[in-house]
Formats: sequence, C-alpha cells, structure tokens
Amino acid sequence: MPRVALIGMRGHGRVHLGDLLDRDRDGRLVLCGVADVREPVGPEADLVAGRVFDTDAARLLNRVRPDIAVIAAPSHVHAALAEQAMLHGAHILVEKPPVTSLAEHDRLLDVAERTRRHCQVGFQAFGSTVVQEVLRRSRSGEFGELRRVSVVGCWSRGVDYYARSDWAGRRMVGGVVVADGALTNPFAHGVALALRLAAPESTGPVRVHTEPYHAYPIDSDDTMSARIEPAGGAPITAAVTLCAEREFEPYVRVFGTAGQATVWYTQDRARIGISGRTAELTGHRVALIDDLIANLSEDPAGDVLCSPLRDTRSSTAVLAAIVAGPTAKPIPLPHLRITPTARTIPGIEDTVVAAGERGVLFSDLDLPWAAKECS
Ligand SMILES: NC(=O)c1ccc[n+]([C@@H]2O[C@H](COP(=O)([O-])OP(=O)(O)OC[C@H]3O[C@@H](n4cnc5c(N)ncnc54)[C@H](O)[C@@H]3O)[C@@H](O)[C@H]2O)c1
Repeated sequence: MPRVALIGMRGHGRVHLGDLLDRDRDGRLVLCGVADVREPVGPEADLVAGRVFDTDAARLLNRVRPDIAVIAAPSHVHAALAEQAMLHGAHILVEKPPVTSLAEHDRLLDVAERTRRHCQVGFQAFGSTVVQEVLRRSRSGEFGELRRVSVVGCWSRGVDYYARSDWAGRRMVGGVVVADGALTNPFAHGVALALRLAAPESTGPVRVHTEPYHAYPIDSDDTMSARIEPAGGAPITAAVTLCAEREFEPYVRVFGTAGQATVWYTQDRARIGISGRTAELTGHRVALIDDLIANLSEDPAGDVLCSPLRDTRSSTAVLAAIVAGPTAKPIPLPHLRITPTARTIPGIEDTVVAAGERGVLFSDLDLPWAAKECS
C-alpha cells in the first residue's frame, strides 16, 4: 500500500483529506502525514489525530518519506513543494494550476524526469470517461476539422471567497506571481480541456488576447473574455465570470466542420451533434489519486496518467500570457449589484453565453461596461 502525505489541508485540501481518509479506511493507501502552515484546531485536529503533522512541508517529507505527496497548498508555492517532494522520492499529485510560470513548469518537468517520478496535475475532468470519449472522437475526426472551441463559465463567488486567503483574487503577492484570476484558477479546467481539444500536440506556443475585468475590489480579475490561439491548433474563445446572478455549470464547446460537441466537464456529461442527430453522453470519472496509484509501477516517461504535467504545459503558457497581459479594469459600480455578501453583474449570464456561441470578446458585444478599445 502506498504511503501518502498531504500538503495543505484546508480549502480544497479538505476535499483531498476526506478522499485520503476514505481510502486509508478502505485499506487502499496509508495517510502517513499531513503538513499545513497552520496547526489544525477543533474538528480538523480530530481528522488528523494519529497522523504525523508538521507545519513545515520539507520537514514532514523528511520525517515520513511518502511514496506520494498530494499538494493542495496555494498555487504559487506548488513548484517548490513539488520539487522538494520529488527529491525526497515521492510521486506527485499537485493541484491545478501546477505552477505559475513556464520556467517553473520546465524546471519541474526536468526534476520529474531526473528523479523518474510521476507528476499528476489536478485537472480532475481528465479522469472522466465522457471527456476521454469526446477527446477520442475529436482526434478521430468525427467533428470534422475544428474551426474553433469555446469555454463558457458562469459561477458566483461571495465576499468570503476573496476573504479566505491572502492570495485570493491577487495577481501577485510580494513580487511573486499568484495568478488567481477567473480563467487562471477556477475555470483553468475549461482552458486545459479546450487546449487538449484544439491543439492536442501543443506544448506551449500560444497567442493570447485578454479582456479582464473585476467587479470585486481585487487586483486580479473575476470576469474575463479571451482569445487563445495555440500554435498549430484551432482558436479558443473563453468568456467566464465569478459574479453571476444565476449560476450554471461551465462547458467547453467544439465547433467542427462536421459537427459540434458540448462537454459539461464538471458533470461528466456531453452532447454531440453530427448531421442533425444529437446524442447525449454520460459517464463517471476515475479519481486522479487512484489513477496515480494504479500506475506507480509504470514508466513515468510513458503515456499512462490521465493528467500528466507534460500535457499541461500549454495551459501554463496561457496562464503566463494572461499574467503578462493587461491588468483588470473595474466594472463601474452602476453596472453591479452589491450586497453585503456578494457582488454580481446583472445580465452577465447572457453575455458569456453569447461570447462563447459567437466566438467573440466582451468588446464585440456592445456592453455598457466593456471598453471597445480594451486590449
Ligand atoms: N481541482 C479543483 O477543483 C480545485 C478546487 C479548488 C482549489 N484548487 C486548487 O487547490 C490549491 C489550493 O487552493 P485553495 O483555494 O484550497 O487555497 P486555500 O488558501 O483556501 O488553502 C490552502 C491551504 O494550504 C495551506 N498552506 C499554505 N501554504 C502552505 C505551505 N507552504 N505548506 C503547507 N500548507 C500550506 C493553508 O494554510 C491552507 O490550509 C490551489 O492551487 C487551487 O487552484 C483546485
């Protein structure tokens, strides 16, 4: 049974902690240690009682020498933690985005290769049977030549979301790139899937044009449209917000010369339309930790994991281009609905759907808050 350590136990780390405890109880792994910069208190302490706990991840790795490290700390500390873990002999499941620069991405790829460790990235939708089926059909040409791909996301995050951590809603913290924007963090799953569909072979070169906005008083964005042009692939249009009045699940849509596919990647469901005939696909997903465990004895250089680090380089390239792009503009207050718990943008639901459907940016949609000249 593999011995697993968790680094970062709150926020999304709490989900990993639950998953690891379940598997520990079922005898599928041993949760041998937990690290977090803050000591667990109250019910959190009960959850990790009996496990080695440390406030320093490097010290924990040294103490427990895990076979696998699950890294769910903030994105801007992933690179250092993942490198340390691999150098301590651990295979990695690192949350998305795996790193916040291309230099870090390449360095981590190099460490993984030198240490012969697997590095799985937490884009969990790649474990979905539906996502895998749509990728297979796209590769086999079922949708014809891809003309474009769109990513549409419409979620609502409250004041508490931005208050939970010092890096929430930040572009940089203390000179370090954090990149906590709508497209670089919550909807990064949609971008990663769109890239695999639009340019399966791409390892990075990409042109990105962004129109970032914020309704919240943050220095990153909570609402963005973008045109992403991966080298040798179909163009991608993304339109997303975290300030919806009416949420719906995000989707990625492929527009091909022979048909279309829409993938609701959080729900393992897709709709495929070819020659006027529509088919609905539903499925299930393999958890990335189970996929990693099942492949531990395979060659890390082989093509075995659902979401290996080397297949996510183009999404890191998009993140880097977004960070290098224009800073977010504030949406003027008259265009917002503000309550003590949340900020929303009335009408944003129709806006993101229209941008995705037509493959255009906010500035093409004659919106009262989006500047025509925004670049
Ligand atoms: N896959 C998904 O669906 C999904 C969903 C949410 C978040 N995430 C990702 O998970 C990561 C964490 O996001 P979050 O929103 O939970 O963050 P968070 O700030 O809410 O929680 C991070 C946790 O890590 C701890 N931590 C901070 N620095 C640490 C360090 N150096 N060593 C050990 N622990 C440390 C914090 O104390 C906290 O417990 C991010 O990369 C985020 O993008 C993924």
